[in-house]
Amino acid sequence: MDRSSPAHAPVRAPIRTLGAEHRPAILKHLLALDERDRFLRFGYAATDEHIRRYVDGLRFDCDEVFGIFNWRLQLIAMAHLAYMVQGRGRHSAEFGVSVSRHARGRGYGEQLFARAVRHARNHGVTVIVIHALSENAAMLSIARKGGATVVREGPESQAHLELPPADFESSVTELLEEQAARSQYWVKLGRHRLRQWWRRLAGWSARLARRRRAA
Ligand SMILES: CC(C)(COP(=O)(O)OP(=O)(O)OC[C@H]1O[C@@H](n2cnc3c(N)ncnc32)[C@H](O)[C@@H]1OP(=O)(O)O)[C@@H](O)C(=O)NCCC(=O)NCCS
Repeated sequence: MDRSSPAHAPVRAPIRTLGAEHRPAILKHLLALDERDRFLRFGYAATDEHIRRYVDGLRFDCDEVFGIFNWRLQLIAMAHLAYMVQGRGRHSAEFGVSVSRHARGRGYGEQLFARAVRHARNHGVTVIVIHALSENAAMLSIARKGGATVVREGPESQAHLELPPADFESSVTELLEEQAARSQYWVKLGRHRLRQWWRRLAGWSARLARRRRAA
């Protein structure tokens, strides 16, 4: 959370899975992160070019990407769950997240983590790993609150969360969450298109009125 900004009460956000069609929105969201946030998110001073390559390389067919859109259909938060297969069939996944500065402190980071954990669990993942800088108090707080064990190694920290196997509740909850988020997305898309259409109509009638006055 940007501690200098007023505290917000947690807002329940509709979190949906993203696909290749959302690459432009993901790119826009990540490019808007400032230098420090890019460092915290990627662990290095990611340039625009690094971010472009990262977004181009997202594997929507095997990894999972989650997002939160605002009413203007701008992506204001996203998380990436990258699967890794370790020895003896043990599956793990790495979690990375970013929330637009103006939307921080509303619990979005925490909710994205909870969503990713549920998804990972339902897909047979047994361990979630987070690599974060030790100075990243917000990320480490989210990990600890989610039940992860954090091991500090100097300037870097690793969080590990062991996941229980999926059960009926985790499967149904995820299904309902995704359905609800998709429905809200379509409502937002409808409103967005209606607004665009209304603006075009207003411009067109203003032009028509000007032409009439000039005639
Ligand atoms: C880390 C990040 C995703 C957190 O997003 P967010 O939506 O603001 O986080 P939340 O609102 O869910 O806050 C989660 C918890 O962290 C705590 N927290 C937030 N900012 C904090 C800070 N600067 N110091 C200490 N705790 C902090 C919150 O108080 C909250 O705990 P609480 O419920 O006990 O109060 C966001 O700051 C971000 O995008 N940072 C840049 C990228 C990054 O660091 N990614 C993580 C590395 S993968």
